[in-house]
Amino acid sequence: MGARPLPNVRLVKLPPAGPLAPHVAPPLLVEAPVVGNVPVARDYLRLTLEAPGIAASAAPGQFVMLTIAREGELAPVLPRPMAIYGIDRAAGTIDVVYRIVGAGTRRMAGWLPGERMTTVGPLGRGFTIPRNARSILVFGRGIGSCSITTLVREATGLGVEVTVVLSARDRDALIGAETCCEAGASVIEVVDSDGSSDPVRLARLLGHAGHTHDAYYVCGSHRMLELAARLAHHPVRGSTATHAEVQVSLEAHMACGLGYCHGCAAGRPGLPAETPLVCRDGPVFRWARTERQDAALADALAVGSDVAAGAASAPETAP
Ligand SMILES: Cc1cc2nc3c(=O)[nH]c(=O)nc-3n(C[C@H](O)[C@H](O)[C@H](O)COP(=O)(O)OP(=O)(O)OC[C@H]3O[C@@H](n4cnc5c(N)ncnc54)[C@H](O)[C@@H]3O)c2cc1C
Ligand code: FES
Repeated sequence: MGARPLPNVRLVKLPPAGPLAPHVAPPLLVEAPVVGNVPVARDYLRLTLEAPGIAASAAPGQFVMLTIAREGELAPVLPRPMAIYGIDRAAGTIDVVYRIVGAGTRRMAGWLPGERMTTVGPLGRGFTIPRNARSILVFGRGIGSCSITTLVREATGLGVEVTVVLSARDRDALIGAETCCEAGASVIEVVDSDGSSDPVRLARLLGHAGHTHDAYYVCGSHRMLELAARLAHHPVRGSTATHAEVQVSLEAHMACGLGYCHGCAAGRPGLPAETPLVCRDGPVFRWARTERQDAALADALAVGSDVAAGAASAPETAP
């Protein structure tokens, strides 16, 4: 498999997903007691919040906005978006696994059990699993691995065979393997430090593994998205399609997470609107091929909802 760039693509809005779909519950604002906040890997911590309302309606791939400033503190002013890593409906808790990258996440690491964190969620459109899917391939890299664990659990729970590729700069920065294995998925760990994350090597490895999948999912890596799109180019069981479903979870800087500020717009100059909004229309999108982006835009306008965007809107997030 070569390393040629993908042809132009467009982002297609997925339908709302989740236990309550199509009538997805509105997000809640809660003062969630911290149950735990413990290190799980180098620079990564797992924050457990008691938030039964959010746990009850959260779907795979959705996220929360966490206000890290305590009452009376002036900064950070804006809440931080974090994927929901784990959902325990019986206990009424959600987990977030986060990497310390800046002032906000550094401060977050100091939160203690019993403190109450202002939490809004669940937010956004999550992953969908095609009806009758038998097997799926999931890619996560770096902090992107934190967005795919709920998908893996949901899919294995439905009896779908799940293969997960987790990627990072080096072994210490790999995240999510234990969670995915516990859920019953097959896990392949790859890292930059020994060259195993190289897309050409990975393509060969996955190609040799033999079979095709009913859907492909990616978070945290543009290179893995390209690879997934290439691997997905095969006839689809039970349909005339020549390309299996590819879904991508995007990251963007977010101020509100609710669709108001437009700070997370993934549109490009030249489009008639500042959409799609990653927080409201995503963060998960269907990744669709098209001959030309103009055609994608025309398509988008014709259907009135899907909005064209370029491949550049899917950043590579390290490590
Ligand atoms: C939908 C969504 C889900 C996310 N889920 C997770 C998660 O599960 N775990 C996790 O560790 N992180 C996640 N992130 C990224 C997380 O929000 C940022 O790392 C965090 O806001 C950084 O805050 P900070 O104050 O520590 O860093 P800042 O001081 O604000 O920034 C430090 C560095 O991080 C970069 N950064 C800041 N915000 C983002 C962002 N939104 N995306 C990518 N890079 C950013 C900055 O460019 C800068 O290089 C998610 C982001 C989105 C949009
Ligand atoms: S973060 Fe404000 S509109 Fe998306």
